[in-house]
Amino acid sequence: MPRFTTVALVAGAALLVRRAVRSRMTTAPLWPMPALDEPVSGYGRGSTVPRKALVTSRGAPADGVVELRLEGRALPAWQPGAHIDLVLPSGLVRQYSLCGDPADPTAYTVATRLIETGQGGRGGSREVHEQLHEGVEIEIRGPRNRFPLVDSPAYVFVAGGIGITPVLPMLRAAEAAGADWRLVYCGRSRATMPYLAEIEALGRPGGRVTVVAEDESGRPDLGFLADVPAWTPVYCCGPDGLMDAVTEAMPEGVAPRMERFSAAATTGGTAFEVELRRSGRTVRVAADQSVLAAVHEEVPGLMYSCRQGFCGTCRQRVLEGEIDHRDELLTDAERDGSMLICVSRCAGKRLVLDL
Ligand code: FES
Repeated sequence: MPRFTTVALVAGAALLVRRAVRSRMTTAPLWPMPALDEPVSGYGRGSTVPRKALVTSRGAPADGVVELRLEGRALPAWQPGAHIDLVLPSGLVRQYSLCGDPADPTAYTVATRLIETGQGGRGGSREVHEQLHEGVEIEIRGPRNRFPLVDSPAYVFVAGGIGITPVLPMLRAAEAAGADWRLVYCGRSRATMPYLAEIEALGRPGGRVTVVAEDESGRPDLGFLADVPAWTPVYCCGPDGLMDAVTEAMPEGVAPRMERFSAAATTGGTAFEVELRRSGRTVRVAADQSVLAAVHEEVPGLMYSCRQGFCGTCRQRVLEGEIDHRDELLTDAERDGSMLICVSRCAGKRLVLDL
């Protein structure tokens, strides 16, 4: 039996025994999961309530990465995997994973890597790097959590570069809970990998962390994923290439839990037409294109943010046509006559939008 499997089974049994003993003593959860004082997800619900936060410190946890401590009053509690929206001075809205301490009710911590426009950046990270200094007040929304850490006696984490930010609080929580965990942490070079020293220290006792710096050892060997028991959750966050590689390396029928930072890929789509009623124009949406991408060419000022169907910014009124809703955000009532055009599509040949 592979070493990880053995270790995970032993640790799992030990943890279950500890949990059984503890359940007779207290109703406390495995690790603190404070009640939220407002809903954590949903367009038009609590998560979109804006609040002010002050940048009180700024650090550099790796080359090209800025870390911000954002202090505010009555900040909602959060759990590992959560992110917040930052409303940047220009009005751009960007999502950043919380990577600080969930037990600290006075501040959120986020980190962002500078991504140049020519490398896929859309201006948000540059604004964070150039304009968010100590003393700047910023509007935030959230937190929301689409990447929650489930209760388990063992975990596998695979993170690439800035994708470590949602994973870091998960590692701390897993370690605090006495769970067996393993991390493969990849990056272009050690200097570009945020929080590397803390993570190596955290994983040193059990040899839990494998660092794969591409300039030293090339791409990660993910073959071990085929031996991970199906009940062990595998979390992955990082570049699309890494997440695709992790998905491929998993045993058949077992999916990793992932959070993407880029726009959701359009899969299983067919082409259709979208009429923009107020503009008097019609656009063709290709099978592999989002409505947002097609319409944006005609309506450049269109509002959008996450491009993954969870912020609600791109919601548009639908006047005619059958909608193929692909988000998990809108309620049934909201779905009646509106859609999130970054992910949802047409179930037929034609939609009419109130644009
Ligand atoms: S852009 Fe966020 S839901 Fe569409």
